[in-house]
Amino acid sequence: MEKNTRREVCDLIVIGGGPGGYLAAIAAAKEGLSVLLFEGGSIGGTCLNVGCIPTKYLLDKAAAMDKVRSLVDQKIFRECGLFSFRKMQEGRREVVHKLVSGVEYLLKANKIRVVRGFATLTGPGEVECEGSIYRGKDILIATGSVPSSIPIEGAELAITSTQALELEKVPGRLAVIGGGVIGMELASAYCSLGSEVTVLEVLPELFPAEDRKAVAYMVRALQKRGIHISCGTKVLKIEKSATGLRVCYEGTQAGVTEADVVLMATGRKPNLNGIDTEAAGISLTPKGEIQVDAYMETSVSHIYAIGDVVGGYQLAHAAYAEGEAAVRNIMGRREAVDLSVMPRCIYAMPAFAAVGISADKAEEMGIAAVTGEFAYGANGMALAKGADGLVRVVMDKENKMTLGVHIVGEDAPEMIAFASAAVRDKMTLNEWERMVVAHPSLSEMMKEAALDCFGKSVHKAV
Ligand code: NAI
Repeated sequence: MEKNTRREVCDLIVIGGGPGGYLAAIAAAKEGLSVLLFEGGSIGGTCLNVGCIPTKYLLDKAAAMDKVRSLVDQKIFRECGLFSFRKMQEGRREVVHKLVSGVEYLLKANKIRVVRGFATLTGPGEVECEGSIYRGKDILIATGSVPSSIPIEGAELAITSTQALELEKVPGRLAVIGGGVIGMELASAYCSLGSEVTVLEVLPELFPAEDRKAVAYMVRALQKRGIHISCGTKVLKIEKSATGLRVCYEGTQAGVTEADVVLMATGRKPNLNGIDTEAAGISLTPKGEIQVDAYMETSVSHIYAIGDVVGGYQLAHAAYAEGEAAVRNIMGRREAVDLSVMPRCIYAMPAFAAVGISADKAEEMGIAAVTGEFAYGANGMALAKGADGLVRVVMDKENKMTLGVHIVGEDAPEMIAFASAAVRDKMTLNEWERMVVAHPSLSEMMKEAALDCFGKSVHKAV
């Protein structure tokens, strides 16, 4: 059969409709460009469909369960609510559908032509999709990432995070390989929903790049909730056992963990499916990610790449920032992307959020820093909510400017927006002192921790 060679020409071709791709497409359309967006799966990509949003839906219900249990323990509520996991899963699907439809509507409202199909980058300025050829003055690759497994015997017996969200029933025993962001978020959700959870992490500690004291607080709280965390543990194989699955490991403690479900959460790798980097002449990093410059342009002029496919922060909000930067450069405003103040959130229970640097990092950089601290236990709103946690602010000892904020506890990811502004604007002690924060609120703790850097916290004895 003769190949259909219909040709379409536009200003910008975006490959991939996840957060990075759809945002860049809308930003470009708002600049007046004609945009074609290719999506082979569902608009919204990993984040909306099988990542951030559905996980947060489950975590929200899991947190509600925890709250009810705590109120029952305090004899304020009389009985612990039973829950329907089936209804919860229905609700998750509804929320995803609503959000995806919302983004589809936005794309339409911005006159972006969405081509449903698997696009192949065939060369500079050219994409093929289901027999048709499309040409764009600029091309933006936003194909995201896919779960990466570890090469062990029985790896195929483990499920991915996508499958972990689709489970039909709460597993009795869940083993999680990898104590990273995905591992700890899903471990937290399933622990509260009733699973007996074991996390096996190869590194000696969880989240080694983050503030040690805040991480230690989080780990203790996770363990107190019943999650068994085993660090320095190298998984050797997964095998079938009489009661389900068996994960065999060696390391600080060699042994086996019996589980009904094993989740592989050992990272994600760039998705280059359909991107013939060799044919297009696009260079890759040694880790196999698409190499880009500070303007999000690849080694080939007029081909840009953003999001998980370029590595770095595998975060939707990093992809947003990179997408915006790419569009600014496509429009001829040569401007380097600024990812220096990047909020990092772990929606575990308790949640963790950080922005800027820790005191250890400041020391490495030769900056004399001081750390101030404020505990949730001394904050009125936290007490009213029954929330535990810790806020730590790092400031430069000399010029008294804010360098970093680390929060573990309820609403940490919400509070980090305010912290991001403080770090970006290098807020000084003087400015913190003059800022009025609503009372009662959890955010008050950030001001208290900042003042505590210089012994000025009001609601702290010493
Ligand atoms: P990750 O890189 O955060 O964690 C993977 C963990 O697995 C690491 O701690 C690593 O040491 C461990 N690991 C690797 N090989 C292992 C082995 N053989 N045995 C035991 N442990 C092993 O990757 P993750 O959690 O899969 O997440 C992927 C990406 O998605 C991350 O970059 C993350 O930032 C992003 N993400 C962000 C979220 C957020 O912002 N809240 C939520 C979920 C994912």
